[in-house]
Amino acid sequence: MKDQYYVIGQPIGHSMSPTMHNEWFGSNHISGQYSAKEVGITELKSVMTEFRSTVKGFNVTAPLKVEIMQYLDEIDPLAKAIGAVNTVINKNGKLYGKNTDGIGYCRGLSYVLKNPIEDEKILIIGAGGAARAILYSLLHLGVKHITVTNRTLEKAEDLLDGKLMNEVNIMSISDAEEHLGHFSLIIQTTSVGMKPNENSTPLALTNLSPDAIVSDLIYSPFKTVFLKEAEERNATIQNGLPMFIYQGALAFQEWTGIFPNTIDAYSLLERKLG
Ligand code: ATR
Repeated sequence: MKDQYYVIGQPIGHSMSPTMHNEWFGSNHISGQYSAKEVGITELKSVMTEFRSTVKGFNVTAPLKVEIMQYLDEIDPLAKAIGAVNTVINKNGKLYGKNTDGIGYCRGLSYVLKNPIEDEKILIIGAGGAARAILYSLLHLGVKHITVTNRTLEKAEDLLDGKLMNEVNIMSISDAEEHLGHFSLIIQTTSVGMKPNENSTPLALTNLSPDAIVSDLIYSPFKTVFLKEAEERNATIQNGLPMFIYQGALAFQEWTGIFPNTIDAYSLLERKLG
């Protein structure tokens, strides 16, 4: 019987993770089967009891990334700082939690970054779970010039847990719009632009530098209005697909010891989503 892997969450029907991981198991000649399982918060406890003895590893997505932590035996320091787990490794019945979202995001930037990431002047838009994963991963990598902006400013402050005031700058949306030309990498982490035919953007790009990189974590739609506007202003753009692929690749590496082919995965998923 093949080793079993899962992604759990709710809803889970549209997840591209099974397609991607099963392709990687096949191309690396590993006997693994990756499936999507619809799990809500109320079922999580019993599913964890079952997974402990039957599953080699799994990914966790919304709404379970925080909830899962209480069922794990060990959580790595970065996942603890982020306060969420997206990857679990089962080592002889002990469950280890990691978070590959933020580091996956940073690795995915290799498609567009021209300079070392420490040289970028970074603006993060949003203060939810995704922003938190990216902020703490950037700090983990030693990045220093980071500003966070958010519709609700107090939530941006909450992100810092009362520390990091010297490392991270907080700005209102209107101030960020005014000083936008100062930033070389703009990371859009909010859900604005996710709904079909949604025309709003979280921040006006009037003062965007054409040398900037604008990245949006959304990949469905494949190009948000925010990215289209950035492209019209001649900026370099990137959607959320590289982050999705690299968070998966890092999880795959945790489970198998092999870092899989991300370029082929990009072509495969671009064909399906683009
Ligand atoms: P995730 O875990 O995916 O990051 P989340 O924790 O619900 O999602 O965070 C949602 C983010 O999108 C927040 O930064 C939120 O801003 P607020 O903190 O002000 O709520 C942002 N967001 C959602 N809808 C928005 C909108 N219509 N305009 C601006 N920001 C929005």
